[in-house]
Amino acid sequence: MKIVLAGVTGFIGKKLVDQLAAKGHALTLLTRDPARSPWNTSAQLRIFQWDGNRVGNWAAAVDGAEAVINLAGEPIAAKRWTAAQKERLLKSRIQGTGALVKAIQGAKVKPRLLLNASAVGFYGAVETGDVTEEAAKGNGFLADLCDAWERETNALKGTGTRVVLLRIGVVLERGGGALAKMEFPFRIFAGGPLGSGAQWFPWIHRDDILGIVEFALSHEKLSGPVNAAAPNPLTMSDFCKSLGRAMHRPSWAPVPDLS
Ligand SMILES: NC(=O)c1ccc[n+]([C@@H]2O[C@H](COP(=O)([O-])OP(=O)(O)OC[C@H]3O[C@@H](n4cnc5c(N)ncnc54)[C@H](OP(=O)(O)O)[C@@H]3O)[C@@H](O)[C@H]2O)c1
Repeated sequence: MKIVLAGVTGFIGKKLVDQLAAKGHALTLLTRDPARSPWNTSAQLRIFQWDGNRVGNWAAAVDGAEAVINLAGEPIAAKRWTAAQKERLLKSRIQGTGALVKAIQGAKVKPRLLLNASAVGFYGAVETGDVTEEAAKGNGFLADLCDAWERETNALKGTGTRVVLLRIGVVLERGGGALAKMEFPFRIFAGGPLGSGAQWFPWIHRDDILGIVEFALSHEKLSGPVNAAAPNPLTMSDFCKSLGRAMHRPSWAPVPDLS
């Protein structure tokens, strides 16, 4: 399958590209800085520079591709959410998704699938009950951000390009992502939940995200939002207790939430 991917030099994307390449797919990667890409160009893998904001010459690769996968966006938890950072978080997602949507609209042979990242943050802080894909948007900055990010794909309705919106939970795997950040305080015997600890912690293993992506590529009937989280979420407090046990460290009472 010919696939165009954006935002793949990050935690999810790196492993996804390696997995899709190993399965023989022809990949075109869009990155803001090809020199920092961990891959070399080959017959199977092309790398284009894009600015993540607008359509460029990379759009030629979208024409005739079978799928576009978009994971691009300013990292959510890397910096404090100042007004300027919130603007960067929002713009990097709206403009990147918008540029890919425009490229798809302009393609003579349109991809059959746009798989766009989103986050379970769409639902806001949910206290009780199951959260299915039919649940309403929640309140707060993250919910508004996810909603605006997802809406950017609305222009593809009725164009023949199927849109899958992956509402991703906290992605875990040793050696990177959220777990690497959470492990550090435990390693120095200072670990514990942020905030009250009672908030839900919808998590997913990185390999399961890759599995969902592959499922979406091959299942033509799948479209719309898809919750990408393990079926049995636990509270932040219980997650920290499990992490502490696994690391042979205590999980202390809540530490202040600095986000
Ligand atoms: N990991 C999680 O726990 C989690 C949970 C929920 C949702 N998600 C969402 O899933 C997507 C992928 O997650 P990830 O953990 O792999 O993300 P990541 O490690 O932060 O990587 C995101 C990618 O986006 C690109 N990027 C970064 N800043 C950008 C900016 N200002 N403008 C345009 N592009 C930018 C980068 O690609 P280049 O530098 O190559 O351009 C980077 O490789 C993200 O959109 C994220 O918000 C992730």
